[in-house]
Amino acid sequence: MEELEKVKEQIKKFVVECNDKKSLELLDLLATGKMLRSKLILKITGVNEESIKLCAVIEMIHASSLLHDDVIDEADTRRGKASINALFDNKTAIMFGDVLYSKAFTELSQMDKEIAYTVANAVTLLSIGEMLDVDLTQSFNTSYEKYLDMIYKKTASLIEASAKAAAILSKKEKSKYALYGKNLGLAFQMIDDILDITQDSETLGKPAMLDFVEGKVTIPYLLLHERVEDKTKLESLYKKSLSLEESNWIKEQMIQTKALEDSIKLAKELGLEAIDAVKDENNESLVQIMYAMINREF
Ligand code: FPP
Ligand code: MG
Repeated sequence: MEELEKVKEQIKKFVVECNDKKSLELLDLLATGKMLRSKLILKITGVNEESIKLCAVIEMIHASSLLHDDVIDEADTRRGKASINALFDNKTAIMFGDVLYSKAFTELSQMDKEIAYTVANAVTLLSIGEMLDVDLTQSFNTSYEKYLDMIYKKTASLIEASAKAAAILSKKEKSKYALYGKNLGLAFQMIDDILDITQDSETLGKPAMLDFVEGKVTIPYLLLHERVEDKTKLESLYKKSLSLEESNWIKEQMIQTKALEDSIKLAKELGLEAIDAVKDENNESLVQIMYAMINREF
């Protein structure tokens, strides 16, 4: 996709402007990922200088948040590649995250005021979302409301802001696109949580079935906990490195109780609500983005 190449070029230009050789070297080591936020923005605005810059700013903020997240999660893989904290150390990952983050904000400060406010506010939410995520791993969370609030802040807020900022840029109806973005983000995180259970580590580019081991009670586990007969057994496996037998037991119970099936249903419902919000906007690509996201395998 040629327009995504333009976004990558713009990111590189911004980092070149930072005048630091080490930062450029580190940028080359980052795996690019799906660039969902850029795809979304460009489908709303079309390709122009301003929209490419907006994409670059959002991708840099997203990349910096992942650099920090991999330190917080002690993750040594990211998007199938070694993470920066694994390749170097925590300090390097945090500092390079700070470079990308502050350069993105420097550029954001030169943009339309409402766009700058929308994106900056989302970054506060995402930082709080990360704190909530870490907090929720202290003990077995059984509250769907807490889970939903956390994934909204951690993941959906920046996607919502991307869609809203794109609508502001192209003078479209903000609220419709914001709702679409929010639900795309919520569904995205739910699908992520489902793939953690259904896919193998090769496909995921990171270890499989890691969420529960790390203390994350994601949507399929929440539903499973509500429905499973042997709750004590499920609770005893929480935050434990699982044997093959144990992870197979969890998967079987997820199928039997329809916890997996209903998690997928929930994500799809959010997707349909999003599609409905933009149905009069004459933008078939938004429907495609949603279906591709829901039906993705990694
Ligand atoms: C990935 O979640 C993490 C996020 C989407 C947000 C991380 C946010 C921060 C670290 C705070 C903001 C910081 C800056 C510099 C803007 P995950 O761990 O559930 O997913 P993963 O499996 O992809 O790691
Ligand atoms: Mg993580």
